[in-house]
Amino acid sequence: MNNKVRELAREEVNGQYIYMERVRELLAAAGKTLYCYVETYGCQQNEADSEIIRGMAVEMGYALCDSADKADFIVLNTCAVRENAENRVFGNLGALSHLKRNKPDLIIALCGCMAAEEHVQEKVKKSFPHVALVVSSNALWQLPSLLYSVLLTGRRAFSETDAAGVIAEGLPKLRDRGVKGWLPIMYGCNNFCTYCIVPYVRGRERSRKKEDILADARAMLEEGYKDITLLGQNVNSYGKDETGKARFPELLREVAALPGDFRVRFMTSHPKDAGEELFSAMAESPKVAKHLHLPFQAGSDAVLKRMNRGYTAEHYLSLVRKARSLMPNLVLTSDVIVGFPGETEEDFQKTLDLIQEVRYDALFTFLYSPRKGTPAAKMEDVVPEEVKKERFARLLEIQNRISAEIHQSYVGKTVQVLVDGHAEGKEGYLSARTDGGRLVVFPGGDELIGRWVGVEVTDNTTWSLAGRLAAK
Ligand code: SAH
Ligand code: SF4
Ligand code: F3S
Repeated sequence: MNNKVRELAREEVNGQYIYMERVRELLAAAGKTLYCYVETYGCQQNEADSEIIRGMAVEMGYALCDSADKADFIVLNTCAVRENAENRVFGNLGALSHLKRNKPDLIIALCGCMAAEEHVQEKVKKSFPHVALVVSSNALWQLPSLLYSVLLTGRRAFSETDAAGVIAEGLPKLRDRGVKGWLPIMYGCNNFCTYCIVPYVRGRERSRKKEDILADARAMLEEGYKDITLLGQNVNSYGKDETGKARFPELLREVAALPGDFRVRFMTSHPKDAGEELFSAMAESPKVAKHLHLPFQAGSDAVLKRMNRGYTAEHYLSLVRKARSLMPNLVLTSDVIVGFPGETEEDFQKTLDLIQEVRYDALFTFLYSPRKGTPAAKMEDVVPEEVKKERFARLLEIQNRISAEIHQSYVGKTVQVLVDGHAEGKEGYLSARTDGGRLVVFPGGDELIGRWVGVEVTDNTTWSLAGRLAAK
């Protein structure tokens, strides 16, 4: 395996601009507007990649649209992290075949993490003949040349599933105009947690240059973004791939020191590498949101060990104590997996104990899903499906109670929120988020979008808070 980070030479990226131009010329021959539709699954990394896909599509002459029915080029940007995510994509992909029958020139592309799995490429080759293009996340920069070859030859194109990966700077990017934006600082992952497919589909860890990240952050602030999330599978590893590069706490401080009225946050932080330096950088920078997403995955040391997580429950709890001592109002969220192979009732109880000790503001709970090619998929002592589900339900019940209690404690208080848009399905209402990402809905006018306001909380549900604009 080649561990060296390779940043693409400018000429290689420019080469793709030439293909974008060629595609544009081919499309112009149609003599009408052609539309591209991008559907994004999975995590924020994919959201960020979809901005590049849209940027390239527009550069290639497509107009963007928001339904598959209208599109001439459909891109599914997929996630491989759990089996049900993959099944959903295969289901949707199958359903697109009727569109292809009615519109033979339609190009359907499967991009993202699933596209890097060999068994997925095989399945598409055999069973989804209407899919013309399969492009893994690491090969996304080659989308224009691959699409060009499909358009020119009519033959299907499959990218390589190269695990090393590159850094491709300078590709076009089209962000949704909005208040919150994603900013990738690194790609890939080297941690190889035994359940996880990400290192296989996203390749080795590689960090972008600090200057490129700061330039992106400045551009986003100029475009009006008020809330920037620095993205990486383990941001604490930022810069470790090369000596002399800045490390994450330094990068965070520098982004937070940029001029402007904004917040910066980050995800994800791995407990084995997070520590005082990071928490101090958060605590000392007023523009860093006091929100930490620190996945714990399991409360039992035996399970953590089999997951190859590299910390114990006690170490995790000591981090939480440290972070909270430096940031008393810290909002803490986490990920947890239920039903990892060999998880006994006693192990699971330790997960429940940890949740009750930490009292997370929000928890993302996952049923363990075996992923082909990962070490955990070969482990014995598989937890029966009904036991998994029963544990999952117990965990949810406890977490819902904790979330409700935390929400209830907000009633009567005034919270500072950033207004990010209209509330879904509620005319005249706005949706806003606290520093920690808590959803607050209140009546208000469009002029407040993109601004920080105080909202007096009057009501709560398990998932959100409701209130009214506080008097100044
Ligand atoms: N890099 C991040 C997480 C990326 S995946 C981190 O380490 O925190 C997001 C979450 O999906 C993980 O935190 C984990 O809880 C969950 N997950 C990953 N693989 C899974 C699997 N095979 N089954 C169930 N959940 C999984
Ligand atoms: Fe997956 Fe672990 Fe890497 Fe997160 S740190 S992406 S869970 S291997
Ligand atoms: Fe899914 Fe890939 Fe993200 S597997 S969680 S989209 S890195």
